[in-house]
Amino acid sequence: MAVQIVPMIKQDIPEAVECVQTAFADDPYFHWAFDSSAYNIDRNAASLAAHFQYGLNCNSPIYVAKVPLSDKHPSSIVGVCWWFGPQPPSKPTPWSIWAQDWLLSIRQFLLNVRFGGRGGLNLYRYHLWKTLQRETHDVVWTDPRGYYFCNVLAVSSAMRGMGVGKKLVEVVTRQADRDGIPCYLESSKGFPNLIIYEKMGFELVTEIDCVDGQDACQLYCMVRKPTMKAE
Ligand SMILES: CC(C)(COP(=O)(O)OP(=O)(O)OC[C@H]1O[C@@H](n2cnc3c(N)ncnc32)[C@H](O)[C@@H]1OP(=O)(O)O)[C@@H](O)C(=O)NCCC(=O)NCCS
Repeated sequence: MAVQIVPMIKQDIPEAVECVQTAFADDPYFHWAFDSSAYNIDRNAASLAAHFQYGLNCNSPIYVAKVPLSDKHPSSIVGVCWWFGPQPPSKPTPWSIWAQDWLLSIRQFLLNVRFGGRGGLNLYRYHLWKTLQRETHDVVWTDPRGYYFCNVLAVSSAMRGMGVGKKLVEVVTRQADRDGIPCYLESSKGFPNLIIYEKMGFELVTEIDCVDGQDACQLYCMVRKPTMKAE
């Protein structure tokens, strides 16, 4: 089947949101961070859409995998991959990103009002994860040029194991190789994701243990060093 990998545009957002929601329905981090009894799928979709809009406004590398519409594929988007570009730690956050951070916070506030809350997101766990993630990046991100950070990667279940994820990732890893910049990702699913990412050139560097009482979630942190091509 002809799969096209193209940069995401605003019109792709609704289908990309659905692709991500479906792909992450059984994700361990998702189950740890959200209270299933209070989960609101529409609030979650609105939040994801706001985040994708943020990514587009920040000119983040976001790619979608598209197939021609058919009975088997009622949605043309079968995969999404969103990266943050490398940000050298010595440089301050650009004002344009800072402004988009604020815009996203305002959008999230308005969504809280519209939906009467965060749709089941456990705020304590969310902040715990963010803190642990920041501490881990401080230790693991040693390259002064920064890292391409894979923020979201999802492929529809019907299309997995067919090379779609690899094609989506390669758009940016090829660029990273040209730039000589490392790549980084976190996955809360050990199996089969560790094997899949190792095949894409990533190596496990550490794990983040998010623990709240009896409930725990482990995040596998992986780095891909740039491949230097022989001259
Ligand atoms: C992780 C995910 C994006 C991978 O996408 P995919 O399209 O299935 O992966 P690909 O078909 O491109 O496979 C890449 C490589 O991994 C291998 N692979 C794929 N699935 C595998 C599996 N279940 N077990 C072992 N190897 C596997 C492929 O054979 C391929 O290897 P090759 O380069 O030697 O040919 C997809 O499985 C997914 O969306 N999972 C659910 C959401 C998720 O976990 N996202 C990641 C969060 S970090």
